[in-house]
Amino acid sequence: MSIPQPNRKPPFNITRAGHTVITVTDLAACRDFYSEVIGLLVSDEDADTVYLRGLEEIGHHSLVLKRTDGPHQCERVGARVFDEEDLEKAHHYFTSKDLPAEWVERPYQTRTLHVTDPMGMPLELCASMDKRSRNHVNTHLHKGAAALRFDHFQFLVPDVMKASTFYTDLGFRISDYFTTGGPQDHILGSFMYRKSNPHDFVFMTRPGPVMHHFAFIVAESHCLFRACDTAGSLGLSAQVDRGPSRHGQGHQLYVYFRDPAGHRVEVLPPPIQLIDIDEEPVCWAGAARFTWDLPPAKRWIYEGTPFAGVDIGDAVVEQKLLSLEEHLAKQSDDP
Ligand SMILES: [Fe+2]
Repeated sequence: MSIPQPNRKPPFNITRAGHTVITVTDLAACRDFYSEVIGLLVSDEDADTVYLRGLEEIGHHSLVLKRTDGPHQCERVGARVFDEEDLEKAHHYFTSKDLPAEWVERPYQTRTLHVTDPMGMPLELCASMDKRSRNHVNTHLHKGAAALRFDHFQFLVPDVMKASTFYTDLGFRISDYFTTGGPQDHILGSFMYRKSNPHDFVFMTRPGPVMHHFAFIVAESHCLFRACDTAGSLGLSAQVDRGPSRHGQGHQLYVYFRDPAGHRVEVLPPPIQLIDIDEEPVCWAGAARFTWDLPPAKRWIYEGTPFAGVDIGDAVVEQKLLSLEEHLAKQSDDP
């Protein structure tokens, strides 16, 4: 099966996944969750909005919580571009493709461009933000997972090939991809990156588009357990969604939480680095190898955060994943 090839001279330069804007009904509960369990710092807040960042980040925010009386949604997927000129080029690119593109003003960000990709996902592009102090050495401020920096998004989309093609055209590279294998080989998922690790945007085949999770990097494996212990001590153990455990693909330690609004956030230690331009994508066909973690619960497989005003479509290729529920039922059926 052929996969899209990266465009080494993209029309504009996205440098990395940068931040997300999500809506929550209980702003105080979510602020406390992200401060105490994930360990983010509050950069600014008012009655309706909380801006948070990781301990290592000097950019003003990597997570924006907005109070809502409506459903919990993802308003924007934030990404950084190299400079202001790239924003102009991005505006031209999206309008030339008849895709929505609108200049907006956003607090603490330089000139900001709102665009919508062909899957319907609302992106927010900016080149810079206001600066705050870096606090990785100020260990007296470290709480819970002591999250250092924003790392990646995972999205569920109906057509992974379509998403992969659009973003390789924008210069993203594929680090890893999943296929069905066999004679009718189809792509099931792709890990796409702009910075030098395996993921900025991850796309997996399911009904969508929805944001499955966003992720922060932590210093070491101990941080995952400290986050879980903190959740337990605060009476938030129900927010632990999956793990701590280790993925087969990538061999990455992880733990996923659901915040009090139901948005899923992952914390993980630093992944491998992909530094050279001649790195080739790794294909994971059929069953995952190297894995010892339990299968995910059905809620992890299928549930995510919808995008505001975006319809959800069926997946063009179905991936049959063994759920934790099915795994346990099979174990109890075995003699
Ligand atoms: Fe992830």
